[in-house]
Amino acid sequence: MSAAPLAEATAPGKVILFGEHAVVYGRPALAAPVTGLRARAVIVPEDGPDMRLIAADLGRATTLSAARTDNPLAATVRLVERHAGRPLPRGVSLTVTSAIPIASGLGSGAAIAVAVIRALAILGQLPLTRDDVSALAYEIERLHHGTPSGIDNTVIAFEQPVYFVRRSPANHIEPFRPARPLRLVIADTGVRSATKNVVGDVRRQWEADRARFEAIFDACGRLADAGRAALEAGDLAEVGRLMTANHEQLVAMTVSSAALDRLVAVALGAGALGAKLSGAGRGGNLIALVDAAGEADVCAALQAAGAARLFRSDVG
Ligand code: PMV
Repeated sequence: MSAAPLAEATAPGKVILFGEHAVVYGRPALAAPVTGLRARAVIVPEDGPDMRLIAADLGRATTLSAARTDNPLAATVRLVERHAGRPLPRGVSLTVTSAIPIASGLGSGAAIAVAVIRALAILGQLPLTRDDVSALAYEIERLHHGTPSGIDNTVIAFEQPVYFVRRSPANHIEPFRPARPLRLVIADTGVRSATKNVVGDVRRQWEADRARFEAIFDACGRLADAGRAALEAGDLAEVGRLMTANHEQLVAMTVSSAALDRLVAVALGAGALGAKLSGAGRGGNLIALVDAAGEADVCAALQAAGAARLFRSDVG
């Protein structure tokens, strides 16, 4: 029989409703947790003086003392120990599993970081606030992709829809509540895409033509503000229209792909109120806003068009 857990915690995936990429350049964005797709960290006792780190989905295991500096689980443990100012208990093993597809724009890296930080906080009896958890997960996000805006760790640590603006010295974070619940269909192109590369490519294009990219980012920021107003007014038709308009701006940024554009068109053709890529793009997932009457048709059309996987998520 396996030992009872000393600590156990989970964290959700996320979608970006409005404003990815532009959010890196200080424009507002809206993100929401994905209901039903979670990462999980479990810590059990184990003989020995070390901490075993098991990435179960990847079939990888190491120990804290042997882990390379770029091992994300080891980096998370070391970061939490630094924050605590003392070592966490050894003689344990930490296992991570996740239902969130990786490198697909659904925040899998940040969700794993948040789940692990929460489990370590329980193990070490550390009183971490939601902001502490988010700030620590941000440090891990920086290892994955250099200049993260902070939206992923925020929405995942807060576990509620957020309006987010990257700002110095402190980000502007406003949890918000849609007046009417949203049903999203999330469709995976099955193509993995590294956020770091896409964000880096946008940066190169911005450097080459700042005026054009600043105008695109401004348009995305306006769509995020209008999207929030429409969400708070419960005007789902308008939310959908604005989402599709945001997709067009992402196409102009060159972060969409033929597969994403095709599936967005298929979702709209099948009656979705709006559809856009979500996350860094060039692969990964798109989100389609559906109403109860249209949901089955949109799912069937996306499946028939070759979506690798479909998920559903409710916002609000
Ligand atoms: O990590 P992803 O693919 O969910 O993308 C995050 C959203 C970006 O705006 C592209 C990057 C960022 O740091 O905000």
